[in-house]
Amino acid sequence: MIAPFLTYDPTFLFQTHPKNSGLGLRDVKFLRSRLLQAAVAIDTLRKNGEQGWEDLPFQEKDAQKITARAKDLQRSFTNLLVIGIGGSALGTKALSQALGRGRGGMSLSVLDNPDPQTVWTWAHQPKSAWKRTLVHVVSKSGKTLEPLVNFLALQPWMVRALGKKGYQRHVVVTTETDTRSPLYALAKKERFELLPHPANVDGRFSVLSVVSLFPAACAGIDVLGLLRGGRWIEETYRSEGPDHMAAQFAALHYLSSTKFGRNIHVLMPYVPVLSGFASWYRQLWAESLGKRKDGKNVGPTPVASLGPADQHSQIQLYHEGPDNKLVTFLGVEKFSKAVPIAKNAGALIPEMKKASGMDLGEILRMEHLGTAQALFDDRRPNGTLIIPNLSPESLGALFQFFELATALIAQLFGVNAYDQPGVEAGKKEIRKMLSERT
Ligand code: PA5
Repeated sequence: MIAPFLTYDPTFLFQTHPKNSGLGLRDVKFLRSRLLQAAVAIDTLRKNGEQGWEDLPFQEKDAQKITARAKDLQRSFTNLLVIGIGGSALGTKALSQALGRGRGGMSLSVLDNPDPQTVWTWAHQPKSAWKRTLVHVVSKSGKTLEPLVNFLALQPWMVRALGKKGYQRHVVVTTETDTRSPLYALAKKERFELLPHPANVDGRFSVLSVVSLFPAACAGIDVLGLLRGGRWIEETYRSEGPDHMAAQFAALHYLSSTKFGRNIHVLMPYVPVLSGFASWYRQLWAESLGKRKDGKNVGPTPVASLGPADQHSQIQLYHEGPDNKLVTFLGVEKFSKAVPIAKNAGALIPEMKKASGMDLGEILRMEHLGTAQALFDDRRPNGTLIIPNLSPESLGALFQFFELATALIAQLFGVNAYDQPGVEAGKKEIRKMLSERT
């Protein structure tokens, strides 16, 4: 058994407190057979090739090739600009924020919104900086307006700085190899390097594919470590089935929504560099679960929160506002840096004497535990996810955990986790407006 890269503690969701009206274990047992059915449905999609996200952590050979290519490119480039949006950007942002830059890695930036200010700054960077900049354009459909306009705004500046031929080797494209993808057609026309998007993996489930593995590898992150963490989730799930923590997480969130009306699902890391992870979760949960089903509107509302900052912003609402929320804290056992508080803290501020020599990581842990206990005492259920450290393995495990939990809870709600008709409707309307422009 490999050491756990992630643990889930749902104690504060249950009726263990005298005043608490939370869930009972009976409630979860009741869902066992539904979780077994859900597992079969998910596995069928995997086996018939319709959904590939569960297989991604096992694709080590692809990750090795990506790493080798990234190492080559690191010899010529020091900056990587990823252009994409939604599932084509959020995983990369989360990874880059959580794990930073590894040895020899490029500095990684992600451009999602067509923000004139940011794009202007990129466009006007000096020629010497363009010479060291690689651009990775990511769009599964190859049709999404934002990445296309961002690229088209920068392209003339790249040509000016690097020459018509020269700029071509500064662009790598990830899109489906499908003639309906305008980005694919562009990549062929301009002879950009193409790293194809897997056809059976949707944007928000794509973080362990080339979509984020390539930028992560360019930044020097150990992408094989990411896959190891994801694989650990899949392997433990395959042996534990409905008793697995991802299945328990899905069942508890489903029951909280449907039985207790706690339909707002908050993820609150007490690890500041995981705020991007919470944004990734928010998209995954929202886009996968917010669906129309048999004429009814289904789906919990995910909220990305951040401790301790949101103790001074959101927590009052979580305590005394409507009892319609389920909070999941996310903590780390050991931070990579130790930052002790001054030994003479008590001499400086007598009230802070007890904090002398304490590490800031310990402060975060204490705040997390205190907040969880206080919420529980107020009969507000909450759970806690813990990763041992900020490693590629733990991040890989976190991503796969949430993808699995999302696929399972979607089955419980009876919705299709993999489509996004609402998003597509907006995209279609905007394309129409563009085509009608005179
Ligand atoms: O998860 C999804 O499918 C969406 O959020 C997409 O990632 C997003 O709309 C961007 O689409 P594309 O990658 O086709 O540009």
